[in-house]
Amino acid sequence: MNYQEEILKLKKQKNAVILAHFYQVPEIQDIADFVEDSLGLSQKAANTNANIIVFCGVKFMAETAKILNPDRKVLLPDMNAGCSLADSCEYKDFKKFKEKYPGHIVVSYINCTAEVKTLSDIICTSGNAVTIVNSIPENQPIIFAPDKNLGSYINKITGRNMVLWDGTCKVHDILKEEEIIRLKLANKDAKLIAHPECQAAILELADFIGSTAAMLKFIEKDDSKKYIVATESGIIHQMKKTAPGKEFIIATIDKTCNCNDCEFMKLNTLEKLYNCLKDEKPEILLDKKTIIEAKKPLLKMLEITASAKK
Ligand code: 13P
Ligand code: SF4
Repeated sequence: MNYQEEILKLKKQKNAVILAHFYQVPEIQDIADFVEDSLGLSQKAANTNANIIVFCGVKFMAETAKILNPDRKVLLPDMNAGCSLADSCEYKDFKKFKEKYPGHIVVSYINCTAEVKTLSDIICTSGNAVTIVNSIPENQPIIFAPDKNLGSYINKITGRNMVLWDGTCKVHDILKEEEIIRLKLANKDAKLIAHPECQAAILELADFIGSTAAMLKFIEKDDSKKYIVATESGIIHQMKKTAPGKEFIIATIDKTCNCNDCEFMKLNTLEKLYNCLKDEKPEILLDKKTIIEAKKPLLKMLEITASAKK
């Protein structure tokens, strides 16, 4: 079966839109209507007229699309596509943590469950985290969850002292300074570009730090010909499309491993995408109360981001 053709037919018949993250396998990126970072995908999800949203990414991303579009059907090709970062912050534990810091407002990275979003005041992504935190009055104490690497990077950039939840993304946190130094020494003509979910020691060595979308913009405009890329491997497909003449070396913990594949992102395949569009399942279902409470901090994020652009 030609999955590409069949998916396109079903998509038209059902008035569906396919949203894909940069970490998806190349064949899914190439068939999607939009391929973006978490911020871009949440903005697309907020503005779509499609009856069905097929989210090729992980569960917290598809949940976000559902929260922003409760009346539409939101599908995720593989319901096991979770996230180690979201899993590191369970609702009941985070509720107790929050109680220890009265008077703090909660900024949560979008990589958290819908339930944790209900405990949050504002959501952010790696693309707008600095803008979001800078929009909060300086004397207002903040809890930041769940990524401690992103949180400490924002503390450094903004001069804040946010209380950090102790969570990490296993794909980014596995990268170690020694291996990055080895790669830099072996490729002296390459620039290091890193996602802010990497450890501080790696960010210290980076020539550019940013979300996946920001990295793509950087390599498009920058005059270097070679880059060491410290994030998930799926981004390389878009990098090659964006800057065809350039060389990209994905950072890993040693020369042979594929530790920079996000096992959750890579659960989605063309076959699962076809089946999910055909059968209209697995579907993201959330209770009404969760949707209402989780929508507030997400809308705040979208409002702050839109007004910062003006
Ligand atoms: P972006 O904000 O760049 O989309 O990153 C999302 C993510 O899951 C990083 O691991
Ligand atoms: Fe979660 Fe990390 Fe995978 Fe992103 S790369 S979805 S943060 S486990």
